[in-house]
Amino acid sequence: MQIPFHKTHTSQEEIEAVVEAIKSGWLTMGPKVVEFEEKFKEYIGCQEAVCLNSATAALHLALKAIGLQRGDEVILPTNTFVATAEVVTYFDAVPVLCDIEEDTHNIDVSKIEALITEKTKAIIPVHFGGQPCDMDEIYEIVSNLQKTKSQKLYIIEDAAHAIPSYYKGVKIGNLARTDITCFSFYATKTLSTGEGGMATTNNSDYAKNIRVNRLHGIDRDAWDRYSAKGSWYYEIVDNGNKYNSTDINAALGLVQLKKQEELREKRTKIAQKYIEAFSGNRNIELPVIKEDRETSWHLFVIKVENRDSVIEELKSRGISCSVHFIPVHKHPYYKEKYGYIDSDYPVANTVFGKSLSLPIYPDLSDEEIEYIIQNVIEVVGI
Ligand SMILES: Cc1ncc(COP(=O)(O)O)c(C=O)c1O
Repeated sequence: MQIPFHKTHTSQEEIEAVVEAIKSGWLTMGPKVVEFEEKFKEYIGCQEAVCLNSATAALHLALKAIGLQRGDEVILPTNTFVATAEVVTYFDAVPVLCDIEEDTHNIDVSKIEALITEKTKAIIPVHFGGQPCDMDEIYEIVSNLQKTKSQKLYIIEDAAHAIPSYYKGVKIGNLARTDITCFSFYATKTLSTGEGGMATTNNSDYAKNIRVNRLHGIDRDAWDRYSAKGSWYYEIVDNGNKYNSTDINAALGLVQLKKQEELREKRTKIAQKYIEAFSGNRNIELPVIKEDRETSWHLFVIKVENRDSVIEELKSRGISCSVHFIPVHKHPYYKEKYGYIDSDYPVANTVFGKSLSLPIYPDLSDEEIEYIIQNVIEVVGI
């Protein structure tokens, strides 16, 4: 049996939606993008949603919207995909890495305060694998700093893994004290448009700023004002980017959005089967989900000794696994440029050494799940 690490769920409905989008003639950003933003907003319950061509673009423009400047510092977990740190470097600002919790692999909020300096401008919590971070504790740190030092810290959530995820009953993307939340629709994500992203916020100024900057800094108001007269006129009001989405991607997104609860249920069932099969096995550490939150189950990460050889052995049996993530402080470019010291991240180092992500996607069959369970147990022992 051959089981890839990921297979995107697409059906005839997605294919027909894309064909219809192509036939409409609007190949780029048009009415489907507008509809996708509206429906996404409704789904999340937030006031604003701006569609982009990736979460990286969303994170970049979110940092621009809060006014990040050269030399500022942004705190983020070392256990993330490099995009979270990379966007900070676009501003010649500094990604300040924080260690993580051993159980959830999320940012360790007890270690954030020690990293705050006068230059700290923002925190980017990453909801690893779909499990929300300790957001109330992060809000507390931010409001204490405001009270004691009148220093404002912005919160940008990296929710690339978190559709749909809930923190204390509220859907990620709609937490009132967060400035901007960024989602990814990359091919392996729980809602996929191939490539894509969305920024959500309840602040209309941020949303306007991101809208202007996703298309070269063109002021839509000026465009709309003059295009009503059939004019060629537009104004550039910022040094923007080319980060817009397309109607083809949005058509895919609209179909996938409708299925989110159903797809999440399927991933949850797979997670439950893994948990049932592996609990009590002293060679496997299972993922820990805190009681007051719900994960999208984008990832199912176990921890095992001899992780590399386990991955190789499973591969030889037809099961592809992955590792999330190689911590940012270990990547040569970041290590050299920012001088990160490996021993500053003891928990992330231990977690990285043992973590292994098993396949978890809606179209995984019962037979495949059983095959994975049986082989993992055979390889790691009981
Ligand atoms: C935690 C995290 N943040 C950001 C990104 C970037 O997403 P995108 O590929 O949509 O730019 C990813 C992508 O894998 C991710 O895992």
